[in-house]
Amino acid sequence: MAGDRFARIGLKGGKMAREPKHDVLFDAVRIGPKQTRNRFWQTSHCAGPGAERPGAQAHLRGMKAEGGWGVVFTEFCSIHPESDEYPYTSARIWDQGDVRNLGYMCEIAHRHKSLAGIQLWYSGGNAPGLESREVGRSPSQWLSPLFATRSVYGYEMDDLDIQTVINMYVEAGKRAEAAGFDLLEVSAGDDTLPIQFLEPRFNRRTDAYGGGFANRSRFFVELLQALKRHLGDRCGITTRFEMDTLHGPEGVEAHEDGVRLLELLRREGVVDAVALKIGDYAEWGEDAGVSRFRKSGWMTPFIKQGKSALGPNIPVVGNGRLTNPDDMVALIRGGVLDIIGAARPSIADPFMPSKISEGRLEDIRECIGCNICVSKFQQGGQIMCTQNVTIGEEYRRGWHPEKFTKTKSPCSVLIVGAGPSGMECARVLGERGYTVHLREAERELGGHWKSIATLPRLAEWSRVISYREIQLRKLKKNVEVHTGVGPMSADEVLRYGADRVVVATGYHWSSDGRGANYGPIQGADASLPHVLTPTQVMQGKEVPGKRALILDGDGHFMGIALAELLANRGKEITYVCDASDVAEYGVFTMESGNNKRLLFEKGVRTYCNHWVERIEPGGVRLTYLYKFGPDLTGPRAGAVPRRDNGGEFDLAVDAVILVTSRYSEDRLWRELKARKAAWAPNEIQAIFRTGDCKAPVQLNQAMWDAHRLAREFDSPHPAYPLPWIRERQLWGGETIPRLGDSRANVEAE
Ligand SMILES: Cc1cc2nc3c(=O)[nH]c(=O)nc-3n(C[C@H](O)[C@H](O)[C@H](O)COP(=O)(O)O)c2cc1C
Ligand code: SF4
Repeated sequence: MAGDRFARIGLKGGKMAREPKHDVLFDAVRIGPKQTRNRFWQTSHCAGPGAERPGAQAHLRGMKAEGGWGVVFTEFCSIHPESDEYPYTSARIWDQGDVRNLGYMCEIAHRHKSLAGIQLWYSGGNAPGLESREVGRSPSQWLSPLFATRSVYGYEMDDLDIQTVINMYVEAGKRAEAAGFDLLEVSAGDDTLPIQFLEPRFNRRTDAYGGGFANRSRFFVELLQALKRHLGDRCGITTRFEMDTLHGPEGVEAHEDGVRLLELLRREGVVDAVALKIGDYAEWGEDAGVSRFRKSGWMTPFIKQGKSALGPNIPVVGNGRLTNPDDMVALIRGGVLDIIGAARPSIADPFMPSKISEGRLEDIRECIGCNICVSKFQQGGQIMCTQNVTIGEEYRRGWHPEKFTKTKSPCSVLIVGAGPSGMECARVLGERGYTVHLREAERELGGHWKSIATLPRLAEWSRVISYREIQLRKLKKNVEVHTGVGPMSADEVLRYGADRVVVATGYHWSSDGRGANYGPIQGADASLPHVLTPTQVMQGKEVPGKRALILDGDGHFMGIALAELLANRGKEITYVCDASDVAEYGVFTMESGNNKRLLFEKGVRTYCNHWVERIEPGGVRLTYLYKFGPDLTGPRAGAVPRRDNGGEFDLAVDAVILVTSRYSEDRLWRELKARKAAWAPNEIQAIFRTGDCKAPVQLNQAMWDAHRLAREFDSPHPAYPLPWIRERQLWGGETIPRLGDSRANVEAE
């Protein structure tokens, strides 16, 4: 076989031991009647499964328990149909059906000796109720600021409503206990009810629950007292408290009500642990901070203040994209927190605690802070992660982030292109026992991603490459990496001697201004000195003159990163996009607010809903995309059947950067496909394409494609995904509840 011609050198690294300085991370911590097995606590985070996909929910959290997280939480879990966030997927603990479904998650967590936590969530007047159609209760009545529809209202609670909602929490807590949850966490952040009572901007009451701090905090304390009374001897009662909503005095300020509230909870003895966060729901990217704007540990000053208010006896959980065990130890030793909270680090690497415990620090797959995970929730989808493409696939595809099935039919594989997708494909094929040659035209690994990581604020994104580079080095027994070999021709590929070939040659930017909905732009030609693609800018092509225009049809990070890069070089920047928002995908990654702040601070002039019609040396003609009138004037041929109201104007600029759209770099693939008759004579069984070479999608998706291909490389048709488990109700099965069932009575009389 051709594979025999591939060299086999080196051995994978041996077992290592934990560094004693990290021992403290593995201390047990008491949380009321329960005890954690270490200090690793996966804070609540959405992932898409809710209570509707019990297999995905259980195996996603279970994988983290297996990977060493001592505590694993659900995502936010609605306690009652009045708090219905649909189409955003929360867990729900509304009835016995949810008890059964979420019970499976607890079972798996317990199998790995971890505690299972549930975040009890009631959002009252912020809940859109799009499935349940019920209306929530709130301290006061207001138009919810959270939903763009501007149509969500709740109703103001009277004393009986207050008691009723407390009953809802208690009943939900009892169901959670029945499901097997060890920790009941009251959400007092993200604009949920306890913090609505606390925040003056939401609480305009004049009775015993409104006005001064003592009144505004009353509901929260009474709620925790009730949970303690009914469940505190069997479950840990905790809260997730947003100790600064970043709204100034109209919200919660850390120095003021933040500290006051925590001192009150300590005095009242109503919590067994507190997990702290900052920000609010409208801009929860301040809590789940992207690496572009927040470096690891950015919440530390707030958490430190919270810990000092709570004192030594109430364990504090703190987050901040913590991936470095030395930093974690410093936070514990420095008295900032007691427990390492993590959402994204646990998504990017469910086995981070085990790797720290085994001293395998270089194997940690560190979160890059890109918030693709956040964006998929915000889009109503299932979780995806740039670093860990197996997240969410644990149950439905049976993928394990650290384990790979050895192939029964080993062969040699040539991978052309060592961008992130080629590297991921090589890594997984290597783990599976294939003999792999990964060949890269450039001198370094990483393809387009290595230039991207040099753009302003994106340095952490290079972790995508460095993690895979280290893993490939460890696989050198059967994976060879060849860099600086130049582009391969089809003849070279055919003659190379591999049994199978994977083409992973990436993408290129449009050089003529083609974007979503728009054809080439007149005068757009990246071979001219004043017109540039992003790749040309990153490769050092001179951006002439003082005034540069960024034309962003891509809408993710590239346009805004280049705007900042060139502004930092002293250019006057005009940013133009066809969307209604700058860097529109930031709405999903929760970067939108800070993107706007950034552009404003840098003095960038922005035109949303515009496009460039014509480029000439020294200027462009811009068009307002809604220049046509609302009434139809057609039908007519050769023109839009609406009145043209003008809306075009000229702008003097010296350079135009076309961030418009991308195309697969698939010339090699197409040529190889066209020469299929030459495969067999050259002993080639099959040739595949993957990643951006197939479609220039987001990196997480491109790498997922490469990973999947490698996982299913020995399936009958590896180019196409095998079926996966689709969790949905099959017709004829039981429903819980059934029509006619009564609902648990929580109404106070
Ligand atoms: C995808 C995603 C979903 C989240 N959902 C929740 C949630 O349901 N409830 C909550 O309190 N926090 C939620 N968070 C916030 C995290 O628990 C955490 O506070 C935040 O991400 C910062 O911590 P990290 O740097 O460890 O990720 C979510 C975070 C992510 C990334
Ligand atoms: S998607 Fe990005 S931010 Fe989210 S966990 Fe993965 S690497 Fe981190």
